[in-house]
Amino acid sequence: MKTAIRQSLGVLLCACAAVALGPASVSAAAEDEVPTFTKDVAPIFQAKCEACHRPDSIAPMSLVSYQASRPWARSIKERVTTRQMPPWHLDRTVGIQDFKNDRSLTDEQIDTIARWVDGGAPRGNPEDMPAAIHWPDEAKWNFAEQFNGPPDLIVESTPYTMAAEATDAWWKPRGETGLTTERWARAIEMRPGTVAGRKITHHAIARLVQEETDPELAAANRANAANGVDRSRTAGTFMEWAVGKQGEIMRPGTGKLMLPDSEIQWDIHYSSGGEEITDTVQLGVYLYPEDQAPEHRQVLHLMGTGGVDIPPNTVAATQGFFPLQRAARIESFQPHMHLRGKAMSIEAIRPNGRREVLSHVGDFNFNWHNSYVFTDEAAPLLPKGTLIKVTAWHDNTAANRSNPDPNVWVGYGDRTVDEMAHAWVNVTYFEEDEYESELAKREAAESETQGGGQ
Ligand code: HEC
Repeated sequence: MKTAIRQSLGVLLCACAAVALGPASVSAAAEDEVPTFTKDVAPIFQAKCEACHRPDSIAPMSLVSYQASRPWARSIKERVTTRQMPPWHLDRTVGIQDFKNDRSLTDEQIDTIARWVDGGAPRGNPEDMPAAIHWPDEAKWNFAEQFNGPPDLIVESTPYTMAAEATDAWWKPRGETGLTTERWARAIEMRPGTVAGRKITHHAIARLVQEETDPELAAANRANAANGVDRSRTAGTFMEWAVGKQGEIMRPGTGKLMLPDSEIQWDIHYSSGGEEITDTVQLGVYLYPEDQAPEHRQVLHLMGTGGVDIPPNTVAATQGFFPLQRAARIESFQPHMHLRGKAMSIEAIRPNGRREVLSHVGDFNFNWHNSYVFTDEAAPLLPKGTLIKVTAWHDNTAANRSNPDPNVWVGYGDRTVDEMAHAWVNVTYFEEDEYESELAKREAAESETQGGGQ
């Protein structure tokens, strides 16, 4: 099964490369030709859409065949040219642009889809159609093969029943992990409990709740304690599941510390699946052996901006600062706001005063809780004493299409009509000497690629 998936992904990557290289390698006359579904568009849909747009998954329609896709051509052009689909709301002009989980389309891919639609969305030669993707067996844990068995710890959310026709629901039960000793997580996977559950589970977040035992990290949390949120007991989002996402294996030598009596706070977004469905979400955790602790601890910090106070018909900005108590590598960034959320950026202000934008989500959409995970080469290495600055913008005007009412004042709160403003930032901590050697490794790799390119 695994081999079959890998092979089909291999084919897929080749097909994408061919699409991307196409315009440069063909003659001007061929460039004017209308792209066809089978030859040009299907490989893009396989690579960037099918993870969600296939039968029995969360998206409203399947894009696996020409027949299924054709009626949606106009809507597809609209969604891809405005970069609403695939959901990836990052500003492409500032900050780091190398992500492990980038699912966005390239400019060439968007151009191909737009020209296909403008040209009448032709089918093309059936022989050009790439082989169908074999999606993994939903009933299996994806990492089971790699780790020789199912997860060591499985925590399940309280069941929820979604009616056939209902407005979206946010289900927030809390449950115990059942751990009685300290353990380190090395991989995490999440999935709806049943295949039917995939139709209603838009996304799910599992947050590890425990008392922070490291005094320096607890101090950093307190220093940023905005909005009255109890930071002492938030070790961060443990795992966020969204369709099309398998899970997370920690980088070598790193892990997440789970303490005895810890709890999981769920935040599950259900949307109706056309029939009544009852389901749970399962969190599967692969642990390091009991006597083996990884060298580095990864912590997911909540970095808030505080003071959410948004008058009617205004765009408001808030800022917060989070001090890094030790040298660190920033692994990922996930903005959290509600319906008025417009944009969020994170910057690093180094002890020497140098300031750089790490990431900016310019087109925030509450429906999509994307976590932007930097690649190994790009994840920023920052010295002790760096301040992480988070800026959040809320748009409480009529220009914001998801705004339920621009004429009311909005403050901090848990309901989706209230607001929040924080980033979940995954941080790996280093001792000074480890940081120096990480930095040296990075510099060596950079000068090598620069040398090679000249
Ligand atoms: C991560 C999952 C995911 C991926 C990847 C994704 N979509 Fe979607 N798409 C959805 C969901 C869920 C909806 C319905 C909710 C919404 O509009 O946000 C949707 C809605 C749409 C719609 C609007 C349908 C309507 O009702 O009018 C279009 C068109 C669309 N997607 C096209 C695409 C295309 C083309 C791609 C790939 C280039 C893609 N999507 C990738 C999940 C996804």
